[in-house]
Parts: sequence; structure tokens; C-alpha cells
Amino acid sequence: MQKLKMELPLWIQPGTRHARWFGPLEEVDGAQVPRLIGVLNCEPGMGKTFDIGLERLTGGCEFPTGSAINTIDRGRLEKEGSATFRGARAEASELHALRGALRGTFFLETFGCQMNDHDSEKVAGVLLSRGYTQVASPESASLILYNTCSIREKAAQKVFSRLGEFGLTENAGRIIGVLGCVAQQEGEEIFRRAPWVSLVCGSASYSKLPELLAQVEAGNQRVTGLDTDTDETFETEITRRDNPWRAYLTIIEGCDKACSYCVVPYTRGPERSRASDAILREVRQLAELGYSEVQLLGQTVNSYLDPTPGKMRFSELLLAVADQVGIRRVRFTTSHPSDFTQDIVDALDSQPKLCNHVHLPVQSGSTRVLRAMQRTYSREEYLEKIGMIRGAKRAISITTDIIVGFPGETDEDLAETLSLLDAVKYDNVFSFKYSPRPHTPSLAMSGLISEEEKSRRLALLQEKQREIQTARHLTMVGEKFELLVSGKSRRENQWSGHTSCHRVINFSSQEQALLGKYVQVRVTGATPNSLVGEQALGLGEPHL
Ligand code: 5AD
Ligand code: SF4
Repeated sequence: MQKLKMELPLWIQPGTRHARWFGPLEEVDGAQVPRLIGVLNCEPGMGKTFDIGLERLTGGCEFPTGSAINTIDRGRLEKEGSATFRGARAEASELHALRGALRGTFFLETFGCQMNDHDSEKVAGVLLSRGYTQVASPESASLILYNTCSIREKAAQKVFSRLGEFGLTENAGRIIGVLGCVAQQEGEEIFRRAPWVSLVCGSASYSKLPELLAQVEAGNQRVTGLDTDTDETFETEITRRDNPWRAYLTIIEGCDKACSYCVVPYTRGPERSRASDAILREVRQLAELGYSEVQLLGQTVNSYLDPTPGKMRFSELLLAVADQVGIRRVRFTTSHPSDFTQDIVDALDSQPKLCNHVHLPVQSGSTRVLRAMQRTYSREEYLEKIGMIRGAKRAISITTDIIVGFPGETDEDLAETLSLLDAVKYDNVFSFKYSPRPHTPSLAMSGLISEEEKSRRLALLQEKQREIQTARHLTMVGEKFELLVSGKSRRENQWSGHTSCHRVINFSSQEQALLGKYVQVRVTGATPNSLVGEQALGLGEPHL
């Protein structure tokens, strides 16, 4: 074993068997912080010179011999707000960055839906408030977290391929954690498949995350948070949001429905709604921070049941959110057809800040298949809900999710799904091949469809929707829309943004600094999946 003998600054976390070595200063997010060289489990009192195998240092061997720095006295730093650090004084203003270096760095990769994206924003907030610094690659991180998705098998496999990239030897000193739905689904089995993982935490246990992280930081090698009976929602002091204009906000967690193909009730636990006053408080804070669009999230967002005595209905909550000063757009996803009621449509009609888009997953156009899926509505009942939305005073775009190849699905059932596409003329369809998931009732069903046949059905469905979307998009050429600009292309004067009805339009403009602004855009061209346009100046009222 190659050995490096040198005196390194060592900081042993009080009361733990965790030691960290620090190297020369480097710039992180504009601040000079000491580079974390390695993390090692050891005994308290090991404070002098060590023989360390190079492979046990997370940062590799770039550390120049002889440039040892002072150990940072974290206790003093925190108490006094400053400390002597490599010959210089660290002032209170630098405390955060220094704490980051003391705690280390984290890398967080997210798979799956918007709920997961937002959970990750909250997890990042928890870590930042504990003094970690976020980095963009696992190589430079001392804590690596994967927030996982298990809705379909392929998504679930991804995390194991990521974990496979680490091994016991490569991983020395790094802490690896698996969060989210795969964590909940596989539980301690993850430790068996990847013994280098030390944290497994399902989303229903995120409210305990600070506690669990403290155990991991204390050197505990097997930390789990796998309860799903928690009645709390995941609230954080800080949420590190990825988008500076549009904020996600979870209003209901878990799911009380029992669709026979779906692992979510198992992985995310029972439904828990967040108090309406806490939601509105957060919306006000978001508006003050400059967010103008909020997206309310939930697996079945419209099943929202306010736990406060005021018992605000979902439609009332939508209106109250839209009423907050500074909020210009409010979205919500995903709606369950059974809980979609007329008062929601009335709210959309009365308040233009509520975006004119409803995502209403149907899953199948055949009542027989819907029954087998335990979807709680028939084709006809679903079409009644569509009729209700189409009855609104303003045009509302409708999107859906569809599963093909559910066990027992016949050609006739598929034909009914295709005819439903014709009947509804969705603005967009997210379509999936049925994927058997652990702990779901559909596992026991007969009439399994081969992968090949599922692919054939999916192609038929997607081709039909492509035709519908092409025709729909062509009618939009010449129309004007209001866009929230969220992207700037590398090409000169090219931008992109979302309409209220949730379409992306790539457009040209001679103006500068458009990001985060609302502009009027006239559509000049269309493909099945996208629209192009140009900024329109002062020409009549736009479509929202
Ligand atoms: N197989 C395929 N698709 C699924 N979905 C949920 N569970 C499965 C499964 N087992 C789809 C549904 C849901 C979307 C988020 O994922 O269409 O609405
Ligand atoms: Fe899954 Fe059905 Fe709940 Fe949606 S409503 S999360 S598909 S169980």
C-alpha cells in the first residue's frame, strides 16, 4: 500500500469517530475555503502524525506535502464568530463557508417527478443550513445523495447503476445515501446490495432528515428512515430552489388512492395535507423573494384537505394563493379525476392568475381496464369531468397520463383508449408501458402482455397523439401568448418560456435581459412538440 507520511490538519467531530483533513484554500461559490482532503473513521485523541493510505483520502493525493494548515477550532469559531485560520482571521461573515468546509460538501442527484425535484430542493436546504456546501459532481463531494424514483422499473434501476459506480475501496471516507421511493421500497436491502451506502431514507421520513443526518455525521454506518405512518409533512427552514422565478410548493404528501399498478401509496405513505396558513405564509415569502409563479404539488393535489379549523377547500386555497401580492401565476399538479369538482373550474374562470392548464391522468380509455386499475371512475365519468373543464369560459389546456399493456388489456380496450384521444384532443399525453412494481395488487393479475406488444401499443398511441398535437399546434400559428421567460439560447437573440397553458415557445427578441420577465409572443411556426415565435410588441390582448 502506498503511504503518505505528513502532518495534516485534523478535525475530529466532537463525540464521534469521524475525522476530516483539510488542505489548501480553494474557491467555492466565490469564498475561500479549505479543501476537504479526506474523511476517516478513527478514535478521538488521534491528533498527531499519521500513516494514511492514499486511497483512503477522498481528495486523492494532490495535497502538497508540507503545506499543512491549522486545525480549525469549530467550537471557538461558532462561539466567537472568528478564529485564527492559516495565519489569517476568519470573520463571522466567512463562518458559513468555513462551516461548509468543516461539514464537507454534498452532491445530490434527483430522479423522477416534480415532487422529487422539490423534495431535493428541501433536502439541499436542510444540508446548507447544517453547513454543507453543494458541489456539481460526486467526485468532489464528501456526502453523495441520490433522490430516487421507483414508479417504473427502469427508473428504479438507475440508482443501482449509480451505486455500482462506487465500491468499498473507492468509497473510503465518503458518505453515500439513498433517498426517496427506492429507499422506501427496498429498505435495508440496499445495504446488502451496496454495503457502502450508510443512509437509506424514504420520503415519508424526510421530516426526520436532520436527525438522521446527525447520526450519519456521527459516523453511524447504517442509518434508516423508513416509517410511512408519519403524520407530519416535510417543512424546512431553508429550501434551495433551482428556478429563481417559479417555485414549487408541496401542499399534500402521500396518496390515499389505491391504483392497482402504483407503488406510490407504499413509498410515500398516506395522504397528509399541509395547513393552509403555512402554505399562504410561504407563498408570501416567495413573492417577497421575487418568485412570480408558484406550482402547488401533490400526487393528488386536488384531494387537499385543510387540517386547520378554517378547512379551506382546494379551490379556495387556489384563489387565496393567487391573491398574494406579487404572485402572477398559480399552477397545480397532479389532479385526480374523482376529486375534480366544478368549484375548481369556477375558480379558474374567476381568477386569470390561475393558469389555464389541468393535468388530469386518465390511464386508460376502457372502463373495464379502469376497474382493474382501481381508478374509481369509468370512461363516461371521466368524460363528464372533461365536459366540465371544456365548459369553462376560457380555453383550458388538458394533459394526461396513459398506461398501455396493463395485464389483461385487449385490442378492444386499446381501441377505446385511442378513441378517447380523439374525443378529448389532449394538449399533451405522457404515455408509459405498464411496469410491474413490488407491493402492488396488479402483480398478482393474469394476462401479462409481452414487452414487444406493449411497445407496439405505445407506438400506436403516440402516433395518434402526434397527429392530434400537430393539427392543434398548426391552429396556433399567428396567435399571441404571454410567456414567462425562463431560458436563453446560446444563439443570439433566442429565448424560451412557458405559456400559462404550459406550452414551451422558443422565440426571438432584440431585447436584452428578458429572463424572469413576462413578454407577449406571436407564434410563427409549429412542430408536433414545440412552437416557435417572435416577441410581439403592443398588439392587442394576448391569449394567456
Ligand atoms: N407502470 C407504468 N406506468 C406507471 N405509472 C404509475 N405507475 C406505473 C406503472 N406501474 C404512471 C401513471 C402515473 C404516472 C406518474 O406514471 O400514468 O400517472
Ligand atoms: Fe399512484 Fe393512483 Fe395515487 Fe396517482 S392516484 S399516486 S396513480 S395510487
